[in-house]
Amino acid sequence: MPQNRSLHAAKAAKQAEYYTQYIDIQKEVEAYLEFDPDTFRGKVVYCNCDDPFESNFFKYFAANFNKLGLKKLIATSYDGSPIAGQGTLFPEYNEGNGKRQKPKALAVILDHVKDEDGDGAVNIEDVKLFLKRNKAARIALKADEKYGGGDFRSAECVELLNQADIVVTNPPFYLFRQYVAQLVEYRKKFLILGNQNAITFKEIFPLIKDNRLWLGVDNGGTKWFEVQKDYDIKTKSRIKIVNGIKYFSMGTIVWFTNLDHGRRHQKLPLMSMAENLKFSKSLKGKTAYDRYDNYDAIEVPAYKEIPSDYDGIMGVPITFLYKYNPDQFKILELSRYTKTKGMSKEFVDAYYESGQTGTICEGHPDLCYYDHNNRPVVPYMRVLIEINREAKGRNKK
Ligand SMILES: C[S@@+](CC[C@H](N)C(=O)[O-])C[C@H]1O[C@@H](n2cnc3c(N)ncnc32)[C@H](O)[C@@H]1O
Repeated sequence: MPQNRSLHAAKAAKQAEYYTQYIDIQKEVEAYLEFDPDTFRGKVVYCNCDDPFESNFFKYFAANFNKLGLKKLIATSYDGSPIAGQGTLFPEYNEGNGKRQKPKALAVILDHVKDEDGDGAVNIEDVKLFLKRNKAARIALKADEKYGGGDFRSAECVELLNQADIVVTNPPFYLFRQYVAQLVEYRKKFLILGNQNAITFKEIFPLIKDNRLWLGVDNGGTKWFEVQKDYDIKTKSRIKIVNGIKYFSMGTIVWFTNLDHGRRHQKLPLMSMAENLKFSKSLKGKTAYDRYDNYDAIEVPAYKEIPSDYDGIMGVPITFLYKYNPDQFKILELSRYTKTKGMSKEFVDAYYESGQTGTICEGHPDLCYYDHNNRPVVPYMRVLIEINREAKGRNKK
């Protein structure tokens, strides 16, 4: 590998070392249990970007093994992890002299969790004890021809993936496309974290459109991830230190899944077009919704302003996907991949003359419109949707 490419890869790998908090995993998993208490019952759960001695995904599923009714829990760690062994979940990697050993990639497989310490309760303390007593429960993972040990694409990890029913983790963001492609190829159920931007990837959006992947439940707020003290964070507002532990918030991180949950069956309450024009904040002063100049659809500035009685195509912000219910709406396309008429030279000139900056040009595929003050506008990326009127008459006007 050329030197700067390998440096780049090393930097990306280091930046991928941020750890999900237990509470975030618990909140999300519990939302699925509320919808179906048997979501994980009898299932093999695989956390494939998770050092069992450091990851809260492993910790959560191990501690709740019996409550969830798991058949098996598998966790594999990655050899390439530049900070492996520096985590604090189990004292496993501590040599007792203040130094930590860098562990090799390994798999831990649990097929039961029982009261190891005989205190009458079955919990994470029993898992710790079990791991201490049963060194055989760990399998060293080797590099294969193409990938390092513990890489989710390595032959051994793919073999474990084959055994799994549900994959749950926070994978490295820089490999997100390949990661999801593998889950889809192996037809796995999954619950994973990823950057909200991934919605717009050309490999991801078609899955959303086809209802093969959707957003999870606990999205929208800021999620904080635990990082090592020397983790490089340029923006101050993205750092917080609590009880000596450093946390980092990066962009908008959301849950992606193909497990069913209650929120996607809740109907988004909508007002009619006339009501929206009368009462909605961003439509104030308008007599009609704006229409795109280069595509036959209306511009809806906020998902709350989707009119209940409009039958054509509507462009809505991406945050609509937080509220998407496939019985209520149909997703048609993302503006980025839509065949528009392209912007006219006249529109582009008017846009720049009005003092706006951006990189648009004649023929540009983004949606554009003249607002009711005749100001040329190019909104941020839009999801093009329609109300699903075919869904058993449930979405009458
Ligand atoms: C964002 S961190 C999340 C860690 C853990 N899943 C959690 O949520 O706390 C991503 C993890 O994936 C690991 N990783 C990076 N590349 C990987 C690969 N190709 N295969 C498997 N794991 C990988 C990193 O070592 C890192 O620990």
